[in-house]
Amino acid sequence: MDVYKVDGGRRLSGEVSVQGAKNAILPILAACILSEKPVELTNCPDISDVDNMLSILDCIGCRTQKFEDRVIVDASDANCCEIPQELSKRLRSSFFVLGPMIARFGKASCWHPGGCEIGNRPIDLHINGLKRINVDIAEGFGQIKCRGDNLIGADVHLDYPSVGATENIMMAAVRAEGVTVIYNAAREPEIVDLQRFLNEIGFHVAGAGSSMIAIKGGGVTHETTHRIIPDRIVTGTLLCAGVMCGGDIIVKEVEENDVSAIVSKLSETGCSITSDHNSIRLRANRRPGEIRLIETSPYPGFPTDMQSLMFSTCSVADGTSVIVENVFDSRFKHVAEMAKMGAIYTIKDRIAVIRGVPKLTGAEVCAKELRGGAALTIAAIAAEGESTIHGVEYIDRGYDKLECMLRSFGASIRRETV
Ligand code: UD1
Repeated sequence: MDVYKVDGGRRLSGEVSVQGAKNAILPILAACILSEKPVELTNCPDISDVDNMLSILDCIGCRTQKFEDRVIVDASDANCCEIPQELSKRLRSSFFVLGPMIARFGKASCWHPGGCEIGNRPIDLHINGLKRINVDIAEGFGQIKCRGDNLIGADVHLDYPSVGATENIMMAAVRAEGVTVIYNAAREPEIVDLQRFLNEIGFHVAGAGSSMIAIKGGGVTHETTHRIIPDRIVTGTLLCAGVMCGGDIIVKEVEENDVSAIVSKLSETGCSITSDHNSIRLRANRRPGEIRLIETSPYPGFPTDMQSLMFSTCSVADGTSVIVENVFDSRFKHVAEMAKMGAIYTIKDRIAVIRGVPKLTGAEVCAKELRGGAALTIAAIAAEGESTIHGVEYIDRGYDKLECMLRSFGASIRRETV
């Protein structure tokens, strides 16, 4: 088990290039199952969720290779359509393979997925959407068994713009007869990246980025190389660290449009944020001001994945900030650990009211999920004194060596194995 040891309180300066997006590469890895030709992905983050997804692909007979930031998947001989429970439980995104497996093999079976503990995470929207395109689904004792050897395009109206359900249905529908239209689709940039990938390997998808996505079934797959988009949540994490610690930092290789909601909220703290040629420069010379209201919602609204990082930021702001979590029902779990560092707040249901303190103090804290863990880490580098962060394995699910990125900014943070 690894921990982070942090000696906090230093101003940050320097440049860091942001990694490829976790939430883009995971569905795209699943989509590789659809291709009978090898696929190369570049700008891949070195994170444990990717390793776990590759284990799932290996399990169904794909040949996978990973070196530096490149991953090659050859699904030409893939033949198994049953994911064992142990692999399904490792990550929520294991469920993404359902759609592509049904499309490729006409059947699939997997288990209710695992993933971070951030609240109730049902799969009804995935299931109902797949049923609409003629997939037979039987559920029992946590296992989901699907048959879909005659997929038929249909109109699919999502009750909520679920990211995962939109992606799963898109991937299944590429082999449905006729046209499938997803209404009230999620609009996240990662869905646009998935559409780009599906079209690159030979399918016909249009509309991603809007709330209506059309998929025309059929297509002949071919070899491709695809570059994964930059991670907007990692970008936001680094910017929050800059606001909390103060200093002058540059985050490079970002997609500015994808982080505009984050930049807009952080600007309210009084820092200067400028962008130029896919780089964002943040200068913060005094204690951040309060952010009156942050409300999470589906893209292009403020991302729920940034909520805990904004909580950390607001905990040192000059004034009182309010955060409303609208997407997940239990996403304030890490805040008890923030209290150990001196954060002052009250929480009722999905609303957090945070009264900023001038300085947090170092403490021994424990990460319990990915973004909450990153939020504790940036709080520790801003806090006065020493901190130990346990549960780094959660942070490793989505951050490609967070400690190295923060060290490039001059933070004192090291990983130790205990
Ligand atoms: C994805 C992201 C995750 C992010 C989330 C919301 C990946 C790998 N993960 O997760 O980082 O926090 O989007 O932006 O891309 N819901 C249902 N029924 C369903 C599916 C979802 O009720 O069948 C609800 C969920 O409980 C939640 C909301 O919809 O309240 C959003 O979930 P969803 O958009 O599906 O998130 P994920 O795809 O799991």
